[in-house]
Formats: sequence, structure tokens, C-alpha cells
Amino acid sequence: MRETGIEHEAQELRFHRLHFFRAVMLRFKLEKLVQGVCLKMNIETIAMIGSGVMGRGIAQSAAAAGYQVLLHDTSPTQLQTALQAIEADLEEGIRRNKVTEEEKRRVLQRIGTSDSLHVAASADFVIEAIPEILEWKQELFAHLDAICKADAILATNTSTMSPTQIGAATKSPHRVIAMHFFNPVPRMKLVEIVRGLDTSDATYEATRHVAERMGKETVEVNEYPGFITSRMNCLIGNEAMRMLQEGVASAEDIDKAIKLGLHHPMGPLELADLVGLDARLKNMQYLYEKLGETYRPAPILEKYVAAGRLGRKSGRGFYEY
Ligand SMILES: NC(=O)c1ccc[n+]([C@@H]2O[C@H](COP(=O)([O-])OP(=O)(O)OC[C@H]3O[C@@H](n4cnc5c(N)ncnc54)[C@H](O)[C@@H]3O)[C@@H](O)[C@H]2O)c1
Repeated sequence: MRETGIEHEAQELRFHRLHFFRAVMLRFKLEKLVQGVCLKMNIETIAMIGSGVMGRGIAQSAAAAGYQVLLHDTSPTQLQTALQAIEADLEEGIRRNKVTEEEKRRVLQRIGTSDSLHVAASADFVIEAIPEILEWKQELFAHLDAICKADAILATNTSTMSPTQIGAATKSPHRVIAMHFFNPVPRMKLVEIVRGLDTSDATYEATRHVAERMGKETVEVNEYPGFITSRMNCLIGNEAMRMLQEGVASAEDIDKAIKLGLHHPMGPLELADLVGLDARLKNMQYLYEKLGETYRPAPILEKYVAAGRLGRKSGRGFYEY
């Protein structure tokens, strides 16, 4: 009789535990559902934060896809330069019969500029492309989290860094994601999409949708320093810089060998010049810190950046422009 009583109590305990577990799971699923429903799927306005090499390219591609673009930079001069660069690129497109006069007019019409971050408050989707410095990105995301609509998605164009770490600076990491574009954005097909630990499925789906509307192919990457492409590309570029420094061959011949012998569309040194040597050095420093010795930046890269030889944007890098 006593044994039956104990068994009954044990059964009741198991029953309550099961109910408790189910209730927790239900709450978890509901929270995810609410996050998903609350995140905006009908995205029409994109705020682009940073109007440098990448920001201006992303702004142009977003406007070409029909989005209203709010382009923000702390530097009004950079905003001006960005608009001129977008116009020049569209004119080049007209010369090559890829863009019509009407398309150029529409793209330019869809891009508004501002040196106040508050323009982001009305956006459905925000893309950040400020320099590759974690503290700057975290500070910016905390600010965006506070001023943006609750259903806006916050994407970072970081080349190497952790969307989890960037999202941790916000109170809503479920809407933070990495959306890694390539330079020059209007012509490069790929976007790597990297989820942070708390990124919701709805954020991922909406980000993929935005990339696809811009005409891009996407790959989904599990968070790891450098994702797929930067990890590989930084290594190839760094090796080319070491070869140059060791006197193995000239910059022209290293690039020529990699293009014609390995079928790369660009040589690693001309590509580094296009990316910007300061940006490349920041990527290398981050990967070196996270992944170790293999990624130690080539001394020649550090020397060029210290001298202000930043590649195309400064008129001189491994080549003169
Ligand atoms: N350059 C590339 O080829 C490339 C490719 C993929 C990803 N990325 C990544 O994109 C990001 C931007 O790189 P980039 O090459 O365009 O840099 P960039 O130096 O050309 O441009 C950065 C811009 O951000 C602005 N800025 C700085 N702080 C700001 C702030 N707090 N708010 C608003 N604007 C601010 C600067 O005035 C500048 O115009 C980096 O994270 C980089 O790693 C670069």
C-alpha cells in the first residue's frame, strides 16, 4: 500500500515536470514566433550607415533594386564623394549599355543623404559599413537599437567579426545579423549571411530576401572569424605580400601568375589595393588575434598603411593610380 502511494507521488512529479517542460518550450516557441511576426517582412526603406567604399556600393545596389535609401555618414565630405562615385559608376554603366538614362535618374532619386544618424529611425532595414573596429560597431548598434523601429533589422557588413559580439551590444540580438557584401558591390554576385547566436529565423529570412532582391546569390555561414571568403582571401593576399617582401617576384608578376596560372579574376595585390590596405590590415589583425600565427599581418602591409599608402583610395598602394 505504502509502495503504491510512493509510486503515485513519483508519477505525479513526472507529470508536473513534463507540464513544466512543455510550458517552457511553448513560451520559447511563442517568443520566437512573436519576434518573427514583429520583424518587418515588407521592407521598403534601407538606412545605409557609412558611405565609404562599401556603403556607397550597397546604397547604389539597394536603390537599383527599388529600395528607398537613407545614406548616412558622420563626414559630409564622404557623403558628397559617395554620391559623385555612384553617379560616375552609373554613367560608366550607360557607356557600356548596361544602364539606361532613366535607370540612372531613378537610382539617384531614391538615395537621400544625411550626416545625422536619426535618419535610421524611419528605416525598415539598416546596413552598417563603418570601419572594422569592434568598439565602434558595438557603440553604433547600441545607438541604432535605441532609435530604430522595434521591427527593423540591423545588419553589419563586417568582413570578419562576430555578429554575436556586435548583437550583444543591443537589447534585441535576435534582429542583428551579418550581411557580407563584396567590392565592387554593384558587380559582385555574392552575399555571405552569418547568423549570430541569437539571430532569429525571421531575421535571416528577411536578410536573404533583401540580398536576393538586390540580385545577389547568398550563402549561409555558421559564425566563425573571417567567415568563408575573408578567411581564405586574407591568407592568399598576405602570402602574396610576403612573396613581394622576400623578393620572389614583382607585384605585377605575382598578380599575373595568380590570374593566368590559378585562374583568379584579379591578382591578390591589386585586389588588396581595391579593398583598401587599412581595411585589409584591420581584417588581418582581427584574424591574427582570433585564429593565430597563420594570420600574422605581413610587415610590408603594416609599413604601407603607416606611410598612408592605402591602395586605390589614396592613389598609391602596391600600384600607383
Ligand atoms: N573594402 C572592402 O572591400 C570591404 C569588403 C567587404 C566588407 N568590408 C567591410 O565593410 C566595412 C566598411 O569598409 P569600407 O572599406 O567601406 O570602409 P571605408 O573606410 O571606405 O568607409 C567607412 C566610412 O564610415 C564612415 N564612418 C566612420 N564612423 C562612422 C560612424 N560612427 N557612423 C557613420 N559613419 C561612420 C567614414 O566616414 C567612412 O566614410 C568594414 O567593416 C569592412 O571590413 C569592406
